Amino acid sequence: MPGVLIVYMSRRGHTARVTRTIMRTIQAQGTECDMMDVVEAKHEGIDWDKYHTVVVGAPVLYGNFDDTVWEFIEKHRSELEARNNAFFCLSVVARNPAKATVEGNRYMQKFTAKSPWKPNLLKVFAGKVDYPNWGFWDSLSIKFIMKMTKGPTDPNTVIDYTDWDEVEAFSLAVNEMSQEG
Ligand SMILES: Cc1cc2nc3c(=O)[nH]c(=O)nc-3n(C[C@H](O)[C@H](O)[C@H](O)COP(=O)(O)O)c2cc1C
Repeated sequence: MPGVLIVYMSRRGHTARVTRTIMRTIQAQGTECDMMDVVEAKHEGIDWDKYHTVVVGAPVLYGNFDDTVWEFIEKHRSELEARNNAFFCLSVVARNPAKATVEGNRYMQKFTAKSPWKPNLLKVFAGKVDYPNWGFWDSLSIKFIMKMTKGPTDPNTVIDYTDWDEVEAFSLAVNEMSQEG
């Protein structure tokens, strides 16, 4: 049974953790599943014949997705479209339930408007606030975003807003999709 590949970008490790959870949940269903950093995919290439389903995941960084993610989508649009496919994103604004839906999350809306690839399945997750891990300038910028959206601004704050039950539900949906012809 051809497997699932999750290509991800992670600046500070949380998207990698979400990706690993998705991968392990899919593997626990008996489906082959691999994960690959988007930069590794660029340099090492992908054995596309191994995968029947491809998922791309990325965090929102300064209102956008990293260039490496856009490059991957542009370069591999035809490979993505030839398979079952899905896209998920993480953002701290999604800690607000109204912004944790595809329709309510402006970053996902921007993505769907801009992306030439139109994924079969979309998912918004809340990300992690991790000031101690972010470095001075990133922390400063995010404190500004937090101030505007009434979030935590204490420099010692570490809060994982991700709903891990939602991660599991998404993983099972991807697994189900991967079983389709
Ligand atoms: C440099 C930087 C910029 C960010 N910009 C935004 C933003 O514009 N909007 C938002 O909702 N979240 C923003 N976030 C929050 C991230 O999307 C969230 O923390 C995510 O979990 C980070 O995943 P990572 O650890 O895989 O990089 C930002 C985080 C960082 C580190």
